[in-house]
Amino acid sequence: MRLIVGLSGASGIQYGIRMLEVLRELGIESDLIMTDVAGMMVELETSWKENEVAALATRRHDNFDFASALASGGFRSLGMVVLPCSMKTIAGIACGFSDNLLLRAADCTLKERRPLVLVPRETPLNAIQLRNMLTLAEAGATILPAAPGFYHRPQEIGHLVDHIVGKTLDIFGIEHHLYARWKDESG
Ligand SMILES: Cc1cc2nc3c(=O)[nH]c(=O)nc-3n(C[C@H](O)[C@H](O)[C@H](O)COP(=O)(O)O)c2cc1C
Repeated sequence: MRLIVGLSGASGIQYGIRMLEVLRELGIESDLIMTDVAGMMVELETSWKENEVAALATRRHDNFDFASALASGGFRSLGMVVLPCSMKTIAGIACGFSDNLLLRAADCTLKERRPLVLVPRETPLNAIQLRNMLTLAEAGATILPAAPGFYHRPQEIGHLVDHIVGKTLDIFGIEHHLYARWKDESG
């Protein structure tokens, strides 16, 4: 089992880092692609170093390696998640403008009809951004805004992050205990 994980240059890089940690804990392989700005966001928003984040992944792929296995639809995976997903990366995927490996891998994921989950953080949203997201939803992607719920009574930021990571894993049918489900006694 392996999942393609894209980290792009939006605020909320903690979501991507936590996803890599959780996949590792669950024994699910991760193929990581980071944009240049995502690397910058790691240093800006966290006390992690970019190479430490990359070391959480099973494999890291250079974002400009178009000869990578991930540049082909034949790469077998559970699908792909981009978290956080910048509006620029949303626009690139929506237009099929694959000028980096992250965009190309997302394009391939869509054309092969594998699950593609995009986690934008941007707010507020303009009409162009909303249209791009509608285009992607119509093409089969899941738009999963980084908008954590509060019904599970989060006590710390980590609980909010885990809610979004958990909701993302739900799309892939991956079992986890990252948040308490509403009125679900089964745990
Ligand atoms: C501190 C900082 C925060 C940013 N936050 C966001 C954001 O939340 N959403 C977004 O769409 N872009 C955000 N940007 C702008 C993107 O980084 C920029 O559009 C960049 O081109 C994205 O490139 P990438 O998608 O290839 O990583 C932010 C930039 C900086 C420096």
